[in-house]
Amino acid sequence: MTHSPSRPIDVVVMAAGKGTRMKSALPKVLHALAGKPMVQHVIDTARSLQARRTIVITGHGAEQVEQALTSAQGQVQVQGLKFARQMPQLGTGHAVQQAVPLLDDDGVVVILSGDVPLTRTDTLQALLDVCAGQQLALLTIDFDDPTGYGRIVRSPSGQVHAIVEHKDANATQRAIREVYSGIMAVPAKLLKPWLARLDNQNAQQEFYLTDVVKFAEADGVPVVAHKIDDATQVAGVNSPAQLAELERAYQQRQAQALMAEGVRIIDPARFDVRGELTCAQDVQIDVNCIFEGRVQLGQGVKVGANCVLANCVIEAGAVIHPFTHIDGEKLGVTVGEGALIGPFARLRPGAQLGAEVHIGNFVEVKNSTMAKGAKANHLAYLGDATVGERVNYGAGSITANYDGANKHRTVIEADVHIGSNCVLVAPVTIGAGGTVGGGSTITKSTAPGALSVARGKQVSIANWHRPQKQAKG
Ligand code: UD1
Ligand code: CA
Repeated sequence: MTHSPSRPIDVVVMAAGKGTRMKSALPKVLHALAGKPMVQHVIDTARSLQARRTIVITGHGAEQVEQALTSAQGQVQVQGLKFARQMPQLGTGHAVQQAVPLLDDDGVVVILSGDVPLTRTDTLQALLDVCAGQQLALLTIDFDDPTGYGRIVRSPSGQVHAIVEHKDANATQRAIREVYSGIMAVPAKLLKPWLARLDNQNAQQEFYLTDVVKFAEADGVPVVAHKIDDATQVAGVNSPAQLAELERAYQQRQAQALMAEGVRIIDPARFDVRGELTCAQDVQIDVNCIFEGRVQLGQGVKVGANCVLANCVIEAGAVIHPFTHIDGEKLGVTVGEGALIGPFARLRPGAQLGAEVHIGNFVEVKNSTMAKGAKANHLAYLGDATVGERVNYGAGSITANYDGANKHRTVIEADVHIGSNCVLVAPVTIGAGGTVGGGSTITKSTAPGALSVARGKQVSIANWHRPQKQAKG
C-alpha cells in the first residue's frame, strides 16, 4: 500500500437528526450507552484517532447536545471539539456542508454519525490507510437484508462506481447486498468542492452525501471500499430496543476483553461496565455486578453477586460480599488488602479502609479512614471519622457528625471498643484502648484506657406489679 505523508485527521460527527422512534424528549444522541451519551462514544473514538478537530453537526435539540458535550463530560475537555448547526436538516450532504468553514484543506475528513456508537478505532485506522490521504474511502458491509441502506454499485471489474440510496434504486440495484455504512474518509480538499456540487434531485429531495462518489468518479479520483463483517460496528440506534441491543454487544465486548486477560466473570451476559474497569490477576466477579466510573480490582479480589462498584480501588485479596454498594464519586473509595465488605454494605465518598478491615451488613461509611483491622460489623454509621487500628465499632452505633450547619470529626484511637447503640457526638475523641459502654451518648472526649458510660442509670424495683385491667360492671 502507498503511504503518502500522513495528514491531520478532522472528524465530522452528524448528529442533527431527530430520532423520532426513541419517543423521548431527550435528543437521541444523548441517550446513554454504558453510562455515557452515545455521541460521546463517537467523540471518544475521534479522540483515540488523535483527530485534530472534531466537529459535531447539531440540529434537533442542538443546545442540549452542545451543552451536554461541553459540561458534564467536559472534565476531560476534548481537544478541538467544535459545533456547527444544521437548521433545517436537508440531508447528510447538507449536514457535512455545515462543517466546511471549520475544515482546513490539508486534512483528511472522517465522517461518522452520532447514533453509531460502536465503531472501533482500528477499523477507522484501516479506512484511513486505504484512503491514503488521496482517495475516497468508504466503509462497507454485506447485509442479508440491505433494505433502507445505500447500495454499493461496482463496475464489472469490481471498481466502486456509485452509492444508490434504497429509495432511488432499481430492482437490480436493490438485489446488491453490499451497503454503505455511513462512514467515509476523504481528503478535505477533494470533499469541499464535491459538497458544493450536491443537489437534491432524488427520491427524497435531500442533499445526499453519498453523491460525492459520482463526483470522485467524474474527477478521476479512485473510490476504494474497506469492507468489514462486524455489523455491530456500523449499527445505528433508532429505537430503545436497538439501544439495548448495542448495550449488550458493548458489554459482551468488555467482558470478552477482561476474560481474555484472565478475569473470571461468572456470567458475561450479566455483567456491566459503565466506565473503566481494570483487574489484576485472579479476580472473580459474580453475576449482576455493575462497575461505574474508574474501578480498580487488585489481585485475587472477589466481588459477590449484585454489587454496584463506582470510582473505587479494591486492593488485593479483599472480598466484596453480595449486594454491596460502593460509590467514591469524586473523592474515591479505597478498600485495603484482605478487607471483608458486606453483604449489604455501603461505602460512600472518602471511605479509606485499611488492610483487613471488616464492614458488615447495613453499615455505612463516609469520608472516614479506618486503620488496619478495624471492624464495624452490623447496622452502623461512620461519617467524618478517623478510626484507629483494631477498633471494634458496635452494632447500631453512629457518629453524629452534623450539627445542622457544620460537619465535625470523630477520632477513635487504636484498640478502642465501642459498644452497641452508641452516639458519638462530634467533635469528640475516644482515647486509645478506651471502652464505651453500650447505649452511651458521648459528648466529651475520653482519656486513653478509660471506660466511659453515658446513659441513664439502671433502676430495678423489686416485686413490681404491672397494672391490672379493671373488672367490668
Ligand atoms: C445514510 C446513507 C446510506 C447509508 C446509511 C447507513 C445518505 C444519503 N445515505 O442513510 O447510504 O447506507 O446512512 O446508515 O447519506 N443527519 C443529519 N442531518 C440530516 C440528515 C441526517 O445530521 O439532515 C444525521 C442523522 O442524525 C444520522 C446520520 O446523519 O446520525 C445518518 O442519517 P440517516 O437518516 O440515518 O441516514 P440515511 O439517509 O438513512
Ligand atoms: Ca439511518
